Amino acid sequence: MVNILFIEHDNTQHPLTVEPGGSVMLAAVTNGVPGIDADCGGCCSCATCHVYVDEAWVEGVGPIGPTEEAMLSLSSDRKENSRLSCQITVSEELDGLVVKTPEFQY
Ligand code: FES
Repeated sequence: MVNILFIEHDNTQHPLTVEPGGSVMLAAVTNGVPGIDADCGGCCSCATCHVYVDEAWVEGVGPIGPTEEAMLSLSSDRKENSRLSCQITVSEELDGLVVKTPEFQY
């Protein structure tokens, strides 16, 4: 099992323990974490699953793919630690991951 902490823009915290294999977006949506809409269902075409990865985990979540990069490049709210959570696969290596959900996605 993998522990992931979602932190809302107002600092409300949602600690989850999930099975590896799915995406970080799926973990949030199936557990009722607000601030992630995931309109496209995870096919990297909506960018409504935008999260800010805690600085300590930016490298650990792996590189941004070209489609994700293209989607993020359209966002005026992009930061250096921006990711689309549907493109991050939950693995045992990500145990302890911390991500923040952006205010604009509410
Ligand atoms: S759910 Fe649509 S881009 Fe991630």
